[in-house]
Amino acid sequence: MKFLDCFLYMILLICIMDNSYWLSFKEENKDNWHFDPSQKVQDFTYLGRLKTDFGPLIDLMKNDKNFTEYIMVQNIKKHDSKLSQRIQGFRDWGFSEHNTKSLQITDKEFPEIFKPFKEFAGFGECNVVALKQYPGQFLPWHQDTYVGFRKDYGVPDDVQVTRYSLMLEDWKWGHYFLAGNSVFHQWKQGDIIELPPKMHHVTCNAGMEPKLTMTITGTVTDEFLKIKESGIFEY
Ligand SMILES: [Fe+2]
Repeated sequence: MKFLDCFLYMILLICIMDNSYWLSFKEENKDNWHFDPSQKVQDFTYLGRLKTDFGPLIDLMKNDKNFTEYIMVQNIKKHDSKLSQRIQGFRDWGFSEHNTKSLQITDKEFPEIFKPFKEFAGFGECNVVALKQYPGQFLPWHQDTYVGFRKDYGVPDDVQVTRYSLMLEDWKWGHYFLAGNSVFHQWKQGDIIELPPKMHHVTCNAGMEPKLTMTITGTVTDEFLKIKESGIFEY
């Protein structure tokens, strides 16, 4: 009986760790990354710090009524089979609608307040999302595919798309960002990081206060590359 319990437990562990989403991602990308959690490597790039007036955006983010709630494990009709498989993967790992919530505002709803954040980097087509994550909430281990962005803005596959992650407040205890094998914490307001394509990452709030961050997704232009190289970000 003990042997059977052990065997079933091992099967359960294997199912949780190697669900079909993660198995197929690893198989498809085995030549792009080491998939070795023991390696001491830097898996994101710190780019610099944006200087601008954060006040109006922070004020806006104080009121939850300005946000739309987004649940990462929620299946919706327009999802293709790959996205549904990914969501099932999150659920298999134990995530649920109770711990994958974030509140989001996009630049489309408040264009004036979002203008500095949309324009400072020199992106071409661009989508800005401000996120509020309450304690206990996760965006579980995932990659950004930009499939929705390309579709919404009609961006073809041969045009490069990337994402800046921008910290809207100084770091607080319990606020974390993990990219591949590298933890980012103790950030300052305005700090910007960028991940290599397909780099898996996690962001979570295990702290005491809401976590305020932003993603700026867009097409790479000459102006974007010039500003990025200069490391000077201001608006
Ligand atoms: Fe992400």
